[in-house]
Amino acid sequence: MDHFRLIDGVLHAEDVPLPAIAAAVGTPVYVYSRATLERHARVFREALAPLGDPHLAFAVKSNPNLAVLRVLQREGYGADVVSRGEMERALAAGIPASEIVFSGVGKTAAEMVAALDAGIGQFNIESEEEGLELAEIAAARGTIASCALRVNPDIDAGTHEKISTGKRDNKFGVPIDQAVAMYARLSALPGLAMRGFAMHIGSQLSDLAPLEAAFTRMGELIAATRANGGTVTHADLGGGIGVPYKAGEVMPSPAEYGTMVARVSQGWDVRMMFEPGRVIAGNAGVLLTQVIRVKRNTNRDPFVIVDAAMNDLARPALYGAWHDFDAVAPNGARMTANIVGPICETGDTFAMGREMDAVEAGDLAVFRTAGAYGATMASSYNSRGFVPEVLVDGDKWAVVADRIPAEQIYAAERVPDWLA
Ligand code: LLP
Repeated sequence: MDHFRLIDGVLHAEDVPLPAIAAAVGTPVYVYSRATLERHARVFREALAPLGDPHLAFAVKSNPNLAVLRVLQREGYGADVVSRGEMERALAAGIPASEIVFSGVGKTAAEMVAALDAGIGQFNIESEEEGLELAEIAAARGTIASCALRVNPDIDAGTHEKISTGKRDNKFGVPIDQAVAMYARLSALPGLAMRGFAMHIGSQLSDLAPLEAAFTRMGELIAATRANGGTVTHADLGGGIGVPYKAGEVMPSPAEYGTMVARVSQGWDVRMMFEPGRVIAGNAGVLLTQVIRVKRNTNRDPFVIVDAAMNDLARPALYGAWHDFDAVAPNGARMTANIVGPICETGDTFAMGREMDAVEAGDLAVFRTAGAYGATMASSYNSRGFVPEVLVDGDKWAVVADRIPAEQIYAAERVPDWLA
C-alpha cells in the first residue's frame, strides 16, 4: 500500500497535489512519500517480529537520498552499503557505524581502512582473498573486523538475469561447499572476528521457494560449521523480496516472508540480519514527468514523448522493466501508445503498445514504483543533468535533492592549455 492517490481527480502524494510540485520545481522530478516509507519499514519489521530482534539494514543502493535514509534511521534501520560513498551517506544521515553492514565483491583497501576507522558493524566478505586482505589491514591497525562470510548457495532465484546473484556462475559470495573450511581458516586470522554467514540470491523475487531453498542451505551450513568447531552468532539473509510494479500484481507479502523465515530458521540460535531495499522504497516513490508531445504516425500506435528519459529511470531500458504510467489528472479516456523519452537511441523506451490513460502535450503523468533503483541509477547521458528529488510529508514537502543541470556537470571538465 502506498500514499499516492487521486483526490478530486488529481493525483496526490499524501496530501500534496503533484501539479503543485511540478509547478514549483519543474519536471521530471522524483517524489517520495514519507508515510509510505515508514509504513513499509514498519510492515517489514512487524513481519519479522517472530525472529526476536533482527538487525534491519536498508540497502542504501536502492535509494541513497539523505532524507530517505534519515526517515529509515528514525525507524531504527541500519544500512547495507557497498561503497565508501554509500557508507558516508549512511553516516551523514545519522545511521551509527555499528549499524552498517559493508557488502560487495570489490571493496578496495582504502574502503576497508575507511570502514574500520569509522567502526563499521560488519563486513560481508565475498572471497577468501578479500578476507586475507582485510585481516592484514585490520591487524596492522591494531583492530579487529567483525565479519560474515557471504556464501553463494547456487540457487536460481528465478528473477531477471542481471539482478540474480545466487547462482554458481555469479560473481557473488564463496561456493557454499567450500564455506565450512574457508570459515575455519578465516576465523584463525588475528584481524578478523568471524561471526556468521551472509546470503543474497537476487532482487525482485516473485517466489519465496528459491529463498526458502537458500535459507535451508544456510541452516545446514551453520550446523556444519558448528560441528567443525566454529562459532556462529549471526546470519544475514540479504534482501530481495519483489514488489508489484503492475496494478493488481501480487507478490509475496512481508508477512509470508517472515513466516517462512521463522519456520526455516528454527533452532539456528543466531541474531538474524536483513538487507531490504526495494520492498521498503519501491512503491514509496514516483517519477513525475510531463508529456512533451504526442507523435502520431499512420497505422501505428502513437509515441507519447515525455520529458523523463532512460538516463533518469534506467530500469525499462536496462531490464525491460515495467513501470505503471498514469496521468496525474486522468479524464477517463484511454489510449494505446508507446511511451518514450527524448534521448537519441531506441532503447529510450519506457513501454510499447501500452494501454494507458489518454494524455496530450503538456499533461503531467507519473511512472510508479520508482522509489527504488530510480534516481540512484541516473546518469547525465545526452547532457540532461540529474533530476531533483522531493520528499512529501502530509501536506508539506521539501526538495531533498537539487536539480543538477548540465552546466554544473561540465563545470568539472577542463580544456587543457594545449588545446586553447
Ligand atoms: N543486499 C545485497 C547484497 C544486494 O546486492 C542487494 C541488491 C540488496 C541487499 C537489496 O535487494 P532488494 O531488497 O532491493 O531486492 N538495479 C536493479 C536491482 C539491483 C539489486 C542489487 N542488489 C533493479 O533496478 O531492479
